[in-house]
Amino acid sequence: MKQHLFILILVFCLSPLLANVALTETRDDWNNSIPVYQVLKALGDPMPAHYLPYRDNQAVKQGEEIVKYGVTTGPDGTSTPLQSRYFACTDCHNLRREDPNLEISNPENRLDYAIQNKLRFLPGTTFYGIVNRTTWYNGDYLKKYENSAAKANKNLVKAIQLCATQCAMGRKLDDWELKAVLEYFWSLELKLKDLHLSEADWKKIKLTPLRHNNKQGLISWLKGLYLQASPATFSKPLTHISGPDTYVPNLENGKAIYVLSCLSCHQSSRTTSFILANSAVTYQLLNDHTDFGANFSVYNAIRNGIKASPGKGYMPNFPLQRMSNNQMKDLRAFITYQATHDPLLALEPLLDWIH
Ligand code: HEC
Ligand code: HEC
Repeated sequence: MKQHLFILILVFCLSPLLANVALTETRDDWNNSIPVYQVLKALGDPMPAHYLPYRDNQAVKQGEEIVKYGVTTGPDGTSTPLQSRYFACTDCHNLRREDPNLEISNPENRLDYAIQNKLRFLPGTTFYGIVNRTTWYNGDYLKKYENSAAKANKNLVKAIQLCATQCAMGRKLDDWELKAVLEYFWSLELKLKDLHLSEADWKKIKLTPLRHNNKQGLISWLKGLYLQASPATFSKPLTHISGPDTYVPNLENGKAIYVLSCLSCHQSSRTTSFILANSAVTYQLLNDHTDFGANFSVYNAIRNGIKASPGKGYMPNFPLQRMSNNQMKDLRAFITYQATHDPLLALEPLLDWIH
């Protein structure tokens, strides 16, 4: 009798395990829309501290509204106070994928991709796939903002709060708001389709359960298909005296940067009192002051950022991974062209994408 009971208990205890094995043996239904995390989890990779096991759709919507508009409807049914009177998160961050190859952070590839996909070209990294990263505020951000960034570097929720208060110059988010933004970020997690897997790769993934001894290798391989963190290297502004230059600037790229980056903030007076337009006056002003040291210097603003003036926002600097030196030369060439030609090059259709 005792023996029977023992076997019964044993079977009872093992059954979830057995069911699990049975379930994970068949991965034929895994397709492009399966989240990368689902695969990692099935391989036994530990989930990160910010992991949320299921989506709360109401919170996803609230988070999306906070990110896009700075306000949402709170649990008590009333509208929340504006998060920041200077910025929305989307002034500096895209919400869609922005890199053609997720293994590298290259501003030239990113600009091409932005033009093809009607995206903006911004100083902050996209929120798409942000939950798949393992550290935040990397490289020179960590060096520059040592104390505040150290905690945010290892914790996504702290990174959200840091950016809300420091980057967006706004109020602290309540706990439920932080959770809502995180929920929204999870709705933007990487899917298998983002990894552009080859047929051989698919086979590898679907066969995983049978290769128990090589799970760790598969986890590392999968994680190698996208950046684990967004790198950032600050740089000094270009000067006019940088020596001989064989680079031939690209006007079209310069135009795209002017619209998809500069005008996306400088077209209206919402964040800044320095209004840029597609006008000879604007281009002549910028063209006459490009060199470092001058007021209104494009080179200076891009690499060093600009402090906030009373009642207005500040301009974040662009690390090398967000704008290359050659791209700055493209921008300058475009500005000089517009300052010295009549009629001006038109900015459509790029202009339609930044509203
Ligand atoms: C004025 C520009 C600006 C605004 C507005 C802004 N951010 Fe950022 N944010 C940045 C920059 C620059 C970084 C530096 C790291 C990076 O994204 O490359 C950053 C980093 C982050 C990171 C870490 C990203 C990473 O991978 O390192 C998070 C999370 C974040 N911001 C959330 C937010 C949220 C949420 C809001 C709105 C409440 C917001 N940000 C508003 C500029 C901004
Ligand atoms: C995220 C928003 C944002 C982006 C993107 C942005 N700027 Fe700015 N920029 C600002 C803000 C805010 C200021 C501060 C101006 C103020 O005090 O009103 C500023 C200031 C400047 C200034 C200095 C003006 C002065 O008063 O000396 C220049 C020059 C400038 N920006 C050029 C550019 C160029 C060129 C680009 C594109 C590469 C660009 N900005 C992209 C927000 C932005």
